[in-house]
Amino acid sequence: MCGIIGYTGRRQAAPVLLDGLKRLEYRGYDSAGIALVRGTGFFVRKKKGRVEELSETASERGTVGIGHTRWATHGEPSERNAHPHVCGKFALVHNGIVENGFRLRKELEETGEIFSSDTDSETVVRLLNRLYDGDVLAALKKTAERLEGSYALAILCADFPDEIFCARRASPLIVGVGAGECYAVSDPVAVAGREGKFYALSDGEFARLSPDGATVYDRYLRPVAKEEKQYGRAEVPQLGAFRHFMRKEMEEIPDAIEKSLLKFIDEPLKNLMRRTKSVSIVACGTAYHSGVAAKTAIEALARIPVEVCVASEYRYGNPVSGEGTLVLAVSQSGETADTIAAARLAKERGASVVAVTNVADSTLTTAADLTLYTYAGREIGVAATKSYNAQLALLYSFAVALAQGKGREELPYSALTELPALAKRALRACDGVRSWAQRFQNARSVFFIGRGSDYAAALEGSLKLKELSYLPSEGYAAGELKHGTLALIDRNTPVVALLTNREIAEKTMNAVHEAYARGARVFLVTSLPEYALRKEVSASVVVPETDPLFSPALSVIPLQALAYYTALACGNDPDKPRNLAKSVTVE
Ligand code: AGP
Ligand code: GLU
Repeated sequence: MCGIIGYTGRRQAAPVLLDGLKRLEYRGYDSAGIALVRGTGFFVRKKKGRVEELSETASERGTVGIGHTRWATHGEPSERNAHPHVCGKFALVHNGIVENGFRLRKELEETGEIFSSDTDSETVVRLLNRLYDGDVLAALKKTAERLEGSYALAILCADFPDEIFCARRASPLIVGVGAGECYAVSDPVAVAGREGKFYALSDGEFARLSPDGATVYDRYLRPVAKEEKQYGRAEVPQLGAFRHFMRKEMEEIPDAIEKSLLKFIDEPLKNLMRRTKSVSIVACGTAYHSGVAAKTAIEALARIPVEVCVASEYRYGNPVSGEGTLVLAVSQSGETADTIAAARLAKERGASVVAVTNVADSTLTTAADLTLYTYAGREIGVAATKSYNAQLALLYSFAVALAQGKGREELPYSALTELPALAKRALRACDGVRSWAQRFQNARSVFFIGRGSDYAAALEGSLKLKELSYLPSEGYAAGELKHGTLALIDRNTPVVALLTNREIAEKTMNAVHEAYARGARVFLVTSLPEYALRKEVSASVVVPETDPLFSPALSVIPLQALAYYTALACGNDPDKPRNLAKSVTVE
């Protein structure tokens, strides 16, 4: 969720920490802080808001330190609740949720502990300080045994001024060992481009870092050998000529689609497809919307039943899945806690699990039988754009392969391979929606409507607008509007209609007319230019025509642009929408 970085070495730590926190900021940005080892204690600085607020600490001296960008789960975003939290000889940063934090806090308060923040994280540092008798790892192990929930921890101890201590359960943590220095980070982007060897901690592991190297320990504190990962080779995304990562990442959509189309189905996947009698897609947010779009394509092409489940519901439901069920767990980051838990549950129940993710070696891949990678490249904008199109490309080509395996004929291969070039053309439609932003900026609420694949794209268009402009918005099945929701439509409720399937276009136009008759302004995204001329339509953009099953990969592009321009018109930062963070590693 948040970003963690720890550094111990020969260099000054503050600039390294600040650089790392800047790179990690997309993971959480409501407050930030650093702690440096200073004499027998710590220099600590915390600020509400962006990492930039800490820039004056760049010249603070100290070669060992930890830093944090927060996405608050417990306690409001404030300086007081920002990490690091200090108690006695310890300073600590935490990513995750201590689910029994309230109980632990009560217990500690009853025995005299006075808390200085509202966070769950502070219980960890207080407990650690209580249990410490000179052996940090032993105390950390005992502390970890008392914690329920998820954590990645980086800890300084005044008694060991050169060292950083780490622990992980269900929140990612990577250890980097360079020449005369070590890192602990929650995301490879923080160490991208740095020289060294990198290792990912597994659940239940601990680590001890010093300038001379790092040792990783298992849950019983026995040293373990770790497999080296290539995180240092990752690139640090640059804005280049763009103002925002989101807009830049949209320009990368054609490439993301091209690279993510499945070009080869290997034997293990073929076997798995052969056994498949039904498909369940588990995912959250945008990835869930890819699932909704994929369902239409898989059912139409392979004639196999598909259910799409919000992962947070699936994991606490009682899903009917087992032999013959193929579960596709879709997640850009591969670190979404709910999706990982859903994948694990599906596996327990005997289903085959395929992870669909954009991040190599992410936790989700460890919960799956097989992994299919999207190749969207790193996505920094909190609002997913190119990763959605990449997921669609992969899932559509998966649908075609599944259908082929089932002996279906006349499959739309050429429509698939044309998608990258058509996406390039769809990007040109983005300028067309720029002027819509003023009309949306002051809307009371917004509706996105469509049928079939257009409905799937409507859901995603609406989520983009909500998360970036903060306008109430809903994606709705066009035919369902009249069953209640029409009551909300008036002059201040713009309706965005999606129309890419000739066969049912008139049916969607009925809903458009019903909204228009109630005073709504209708904005059309279509691949059928003749509909743009209808009197009900206030403004329109035309996207290239493709097989209607695949149209969301193109029609979503102007919707992403609409959200982007409306965010700008509202004065919001499209890369860092309020209250959100890029990957949701907590429940
Ligand atoms: C997308 O714009 C969102 N920020 C969010 O819904 C996201 O798609 C969701 O949290 C799932 O993330 P994942 O793909 O990394 O699992
Ligand atoms: N639960 C902790 C808090 O609210 C950590 C949140 C995070 O991962 O940023 O402070």
